Amino acid sequence: MPTQMVRTGPIDGQKPGTSGLRKKTSVFKRPRYLENYVQATFDGIGGVQGKVLVVGGDGRYFNDQAIQVILRMAAANDAAKCIVGQGGILSTPAVSNLIRKRGADGGLILSASHNPGGPNADFGLKFNGPNGGPATEIVTDKIFARTKEIEFYKITAAPDVDLHQLGTVQTCGMEVEIIDPVADYADLMQTLFDFDKIRALFAGGFTMRFDAMHAVTGPYAHSILEGILGAPKGTVVNGTPSPDFGGGHPDPNPTWAKALMDEMFGANAPDFGAASDGDGDRNMIVGRNIYVTPSDSLALLTAKAHLAPAYKEGLSGVARSMPTSRAVDRVAEQLGIECYETPTGWKFFGNLLDAGKVTLCGEESAGTGSDHVREKDGLWAVLLWLNILAETKLSVADLIADLWSTYGRCYYSRHDYEAVESDKANAMMDGLRAKLPTLAGTQLNGLTVESADEFAYDDPVDGSRSEGQGIRIVFSQGARVVIRLSGTGTEGATIRIYLEQLETDTDKLHATPETALADVRTAAMIVTDLTAKTGRTDPDVIT
Ligand code: G1P
Ligand code: ZN
Repeated sequence: MPTQMVRTGPIDGQKPGTSGLRKKTSVFKRPRYLENYVQATFDGIGGVQGKVLVVGGDGRYFNDQAIQVILRMAAANDAAKCIVGQGGILSTPAVSNLIRKRGADGGLILSASHNPGGPNADFGLKFNGPNGGPATEIVTDKIFARTKEIEFYKITAAPDVDLHQLGTVQTCGMEVEIIDPVADYADLMQTLFDFDKIRALFAGGFTMRFDAMHAVTGPYAHSILEGILGAPKGTVVNGTPSPDFGGGHPDPNPTWAKALMDEMFGANAPDFGAASDGDGDRNMIVGRNIYVTPSDSLALLTAKAHLAPAYKEGLSGVARSMPTSRAVDRVAEQLGIECYETPTGWKFFGNLLDAGKVTLCGEESAGTGSDHVREKDGLWAVLLWLNILAETKLSVADLIADLWSTYGRCYYSRHDYEAVESDKANAMMDGLRAKLPTLAGTQLNGLTVESADEFAYDDPVDGSRSEGQGIRIVFSQGARVVIRLSGTGTEGATIRIYLEQLETDTDKLHATPETALADVRTAAMIVTDLTAKTGRTDPDVIT
């Protein structure tokens, strides 16, 4: 089958971030758009000749067609082999694991994570490197540069590969191995956790609901929870990946996983509830009548990880993204381990994990993970929770009450203002930036500003510096406001305001977050001047 050199040219609007390129599906389907980005990726990583790549996605609309293009292009670019999940399905953490386990040179993940899928929704593609983690900024910069100067892409005219037939086939001199997407991942989980204990928990009548949100974790959850661990059928709901995620928004938070929330707060709620996102790297944890914030979940897992076999020797350290609440810092301090504060985005954890400086890490946006892969991992977090529940025999509510009474409660909430006109959002940030040097010592709605700065991160491993990573305003009364613009929105700008209030008075640990955060929210509205600058009064999404 001859390789074709197809003339192409720079295509506007390609700004891959470190979590790849996310665009409307219609943009990805424009002539030569996907091809341009795939060739730029191959060129940006120094070519794929003789290389082995893992390829899979979250099953969203265009997943299977895009994989066929990638396979034709990998063959035309002389790759040695592609390892592809059956049906084109692989979760992001499963890709990370496969890259590491098979010693592959990298992987291509087709997903726009928690963004909706379908012809009128979003699509995405990202490259993960040989360590299994998101490509570094150096690599994504190279890919971006190539999208601007590219003149040709290479593709074969080979027929589609049957993605459903397990086994190895050849296409134009390249090997394609279609694998069970779940098996290697399930094997890894069994090395980390006490599956016998969790099996006994379910056998004893413990009930759980796992909402796969019509996304990629369905097959993994069916196989691991209902299959290997013996949870009753029906434990996993919405467990078949669908091209448009059942018309839903596969983002595991109280807004988008409302059905699960309603069940967990209703009569006959199961003991434990969880959900995961489009590509399986995020998690939501909810107990009977209690929602666990991702920040509290990270703190709890840090405090109790030693109860699972993989972490029984303790943790080398932990890391959280800057906007994540400081609950985990308090646990780390007591454990006597280092707690690193990194910019938003999983890639910043990679160096710390590779260097053995941290074992667990997490973000407020429902990402939690450990050194077992180089991505956040939704189902892993759920299994660690199950291991802890099985070991302690406590309820989720008891575990969290114990966390709060031991370390204090960090009331926490994120307010998102979506699709704000970009110039207005930028003007608001500029206005705030200009104020920062004079804020310390002033009062905002009765709270005293202790420090105010724009976060910059010096990577302790490679010495690189990342500036402009969000504005932090810390108050003396245990409160904190963080303000930043989203790097993943696809329409206008998304302003994220993160509110936090520490409470150590044991009589005040059970207020609603709205009440506990009312003062700090007002302070945030004053200091950002958000309403005057953007015309917005209320957030679109509160998590
Ligand atoms: C969001 C989250 C961030 C996460 C990223 C990718 O980024 O806030 O924690 O790493 O998605 O899943 P943002 O849109 O805030 O830039
Ligand atoms: Zn995701």
